[in-house]
Amino acid sequence: MSQIRDTTTTHDSPLKFLKPCTTPEKSGELISFFMKGALSISLLVSIYFVFFSNFSGQSRWLIRYCPSCENFSAVHHRSIDRLEKTNISHILFGIGGSVKTWKDRRHYSELWWKPNTTRGYVWLDEKPNENEPWLVNSPPYRVSEDTSKFKYTNWYGSRSAIRIARIVLESFRLGNDNVRWLVLGDDDTVFFPENLIDVLSRYDHNQMYYIGGNSESVEQDVIHSYGMAFGGGGMALSYPLVVQLVKLLDGCIDRYHYLYGSDERICACVAEIGVSITKELGFHQFDIRDDPYGLLAAHPVAPLVSLHHLDYVKPLFPEKDQLDSLRSLMGVYKMDPVRTLQHSFCYDLKQNWSVSISWGYTVQIYPTLLTAKQLETPLQTFRTWKSWSNGPFTFNTRLPNNEACERPVIFYLDRVDEVGRGKMFTSYKRISSLGGDECGLATHATVLALQTVEVSSSKMIGKDWKRVRRRQCCEIVKHESSALQIMIRRCGSGETVTLP
Ligand SMILES: *[C@@H]1O[C@H](CO)[C@@H](O)[C@H](O)[C@H]1NC(C)=O
Ligand SMILES: *[C@@H]1O[C@H](CO)[C@@H](O)[C@H](O)[C@H]1NC(C)=O
Ligand SMILES: *[C@@H]1O[C@H](CO)[C@@H](O)[C@H](O)[C@H]1NC(C)=O
Ligand SMILES: *[C@@H]1O[C@H](CO)[C@@H](O)[C@H](O)[C@H]1NC(C)=O
Repeated sequence: MSQIRDTTTTHDSPLKFLKPCTTPEKSGELISFFMKGALSISLLVSIYFVFFSNFSGQSRWLIRYCPSCENFSAVHHRSIDRLEKTNISHILFGIGGSVKTWKDRRHYSELWWKPNTTRGYVWLDEKPNENEPWLVNSPPYRVSEDTSKFKYTNWYGSRSAIRIARIVLESFRLGNDNVRWLVLGDDDTVFFPENLIDVLSRYDHNQMYYIGGNSESVEQDVIHSYGMAFGGGGMALSYPLVVQLVKLLDGCIDRYHYLYGSDERICACVAEIGVSITKELGFHQFDIRDDPYGLLAAHPVAPLVSLHHLDYVKPLFPEKDQLDSLRSLMGVYKMDPVRTLQHSFCYDLKQNWSVSISWGYTVQIYPTLLTAKQLETPLQTFRTWKSWSNGPFTFNTRLPNNEACERPVIFYLDRVDEVGRGKMFTSYKRISSLGGDECGLATHATVLALQTVEVSSSKMIGKDWKRVRRRQCCEIVKHESSALQIMIRRCGSGETVTLP
């Protein structure tokens, strides 16, 4: 399918090659490749790179990395660390790109990259054309080192996997100060940095963490590993893990020459260190086809961290192209980052309606009463990545009902405003989609008479879920013939979404 890809975290491989990232090959080869890896590191110029790391929040250490002697010396630094909260300056991004794909994909990075604030680079395979100036809103670029000396034997993949895996090493060697996390993604990954910070700040960056998500399509996880952070969805490596990884990486690249992608090489190397993936539900590899609607309309209770593969699914909003759709989503994200795509649902018992809201994206009104369990399960408007099948996925789905009168009537985001300090107002307008509008029953007429749904909410803070991942509640405030007003709020302590 994806011939145009140069980067390596889109996984198209034949099912018969079942190779989890940690499958070892002949041990003799393992040793000889390790030797080669060690040699290649020791050939590097002997410069010391320094960065800081906090241990136990009491003191600060200065760690010196000496590439030529391949060891690390930790020097106690006598300043008291005040456990500063993680912010954007502590994250270094490494984006896997190529000159060929950048032209069309830079728009994805430019949606979330803030020049002079976001740190990191897009890594290219060669120097871009000098006649076309590099745009100021794009992340700065670096040209990756030559990787021709490495071995790559996967027949269905691309050698660029090596170059992209080495972003870990090449980023580290730049010696960036005060970095806590290295975050890797593709040039078609859209990050939501505020939420990424929110998620990462829950972890102790002084420990070794490998954070990300795997594929939505089981067929992909079977081929490439359930235990892998898929690169397109993005992965976060804490700096102590990066320190260990850079010692092994070139060796791993040769040892695992038969694997497909860059993320598999990193996963294999992390497996040698012994660290397991920490799955976070907001990283979206988006290994799905067709319409992502159902997935985004029932997002798990976790901040939205990334989206990927947006060239391979229908536009998020039916009346816009994909880039404009993302601009709309970015617009609401800027108003209330953590609440973006957060799910709430409630009933209108006078009408026997179920109302489901994915904040900043969509409202669904079902002219019937569905249980909470049904409502929280994504409608399967999409198919699997490789075989375009109806599943299985790594989460439960429900197929849209065959009866038009059982299908929801759909509203999409129209406006977002801040109407008072931290008070958000979003409105959604009806757009024919999913066939719920085609029902001719009289009971349906009142739903179809609605043109807009207006939702009020307060700005959500990450703390709302730090300890307990509980969905927020909603209630119908007012129903006029063409507009429905709803309020989202924290649930009362004993409040449940229970049918009478
Ligand atoms: C690192 O290696 C150098 C050269 O081999 C050696 O002199 C030094 O003691 C080593 N440092 C540590 C902390 O192991
Ligand atoms: C981030 O935290 C550092 C302390 O580690 C602080 O010096 C810096 O001003 C903060 N930056 C932002 C953008 O808040
Ligand atoms: C970023 O900083 C550089 C140097 O300080 C400055 O020249 C440039 O205009 C800045 N870019 C933006 C987009 O603010
Ligand atoms: C809602 O459903 C209940 C139980 O099925 C039924 O008794 C009631 O008449 C329905 N109300 C409306 C407005 O359809």
